[in-house]
Amino acid sequence: MSKSRTTGSTPAAAAAHAGAVSAHPQDGFVWTRPHLLGLEDLSRDELLHIFRTAESFQEVSTRSIKKVPALRGRVVVNLFFEDSTRTRMSFSLAAQRLSADVMEFSAAKSSVTKGESLRDTVRNIEAMGVDAFVIRHTAAGAPHYITQFTNCHVLNAGDGQHEHPTQGLIDIFTIRERKGRIEGLNVVIVGDIAHSRVARSNLWGLNKLGAKVTLVGPTTLVPKAFERMGAKVSHNLDQALRDADVVNMLRIQRERMTSQLFPSTEEYVRLFGLTRERLKGTKPDLLILHPGPINRGVELASDVADGPNSSILRQVSNGLAIRMAVLFLVNQAPVSQGATAPEI
Ligand code: CP
Repeated sequence: MSKSRTTGSTPAAAAAHAGAVSAHPQDGFVWTRPHLLGLEDLSRDELLHIFRTAESFQEVSTRSIKKVPALRGRVVVNLFFEDSTRTRMSFSLAAQRLSADVMEFSAAKSSVTKGESLRDTVRNIEAMGVDAFVIRHTAAGAPHYITQFTNCHVLNAGDGQHEHPTQGLIDIFTIRERKGRIEGLNVVIVGDIAHSRVARSNLWGLNKLGAKVTLVGPTTLVPKAFERMGAKVSHNLDQALRDADVVNMLRIQRERMTSQLFPSTEEYVRLFGLTRERLKGTKPDLLILHPGPINRGVELASDVADGPNSSILRQVSNGLAIRMAVLFLVNQAPVSQGATAPEI
């Protein structure tokens, strides 16, 4: 099954095909990736191309008829082996706004409960004639694995503790929108970094675009090993926030912990929770982000989450344009034939 499309993949072509208003004729960049698996592999130019494409698609959401024909006739499958609110609904809506048909799969309500493997699940759904899988899985590498035996496009919606590329793109796109640049910004990411695919995707993307990233949290949740990925590691939030332009607060992922990694929630809140009191020592225009879901009163006080420096709901709005962009772009690139991968 050829996945090659005829619309072209420059933002100008995307915009023209999508009926969006903002074309970029000066940009000769051609997108060639049939899958979106992570930000580690993407170049600076590819990241910027996604952002320009997303900007073109933002306008679609302001129309009375919020739909363009870019993926008409295509079928996108949301293949979720882990719970989600934002990512799943946002990918669904993004695909619908591009006029694709959308199929929803939840492992808990599927024949996975009867022992069907990931490989058989994918190949059986593919046999119905679908074009793209958006996959969230508890196992790191699951999206990469399925590219070995599917001829469909694959988009990673979060794989274990590895990457959550669209969330990374959303966060960086929102920073760029709010601050006008990424280069030279001090970005502080706070919380359960060790278990966080969001932190990893942010770090890969922010580094490529020239931001200075500091990771903050208890020693058990922010190992020094992250310095090898190009980040500064700190265990003192007040100190790290002093020069911060952006702070991205992450949730404690108890579902991924196998032991008690900090003494108590009360101590965590005192040392690493973002409160109004703590904001007194920061820049007045500090941008506050959170990928969601928020544990209010733990990593983030409610009045800070809903306060004037917060762009948390803007992240969610931007998620739609980012997911329209990546669905559109990967669908322009031909998928090479999947190799036969063994059952796992
Ligand atoms: N940020 C994020 O991935 O949220 P969901 O788990 O609700 O998709």
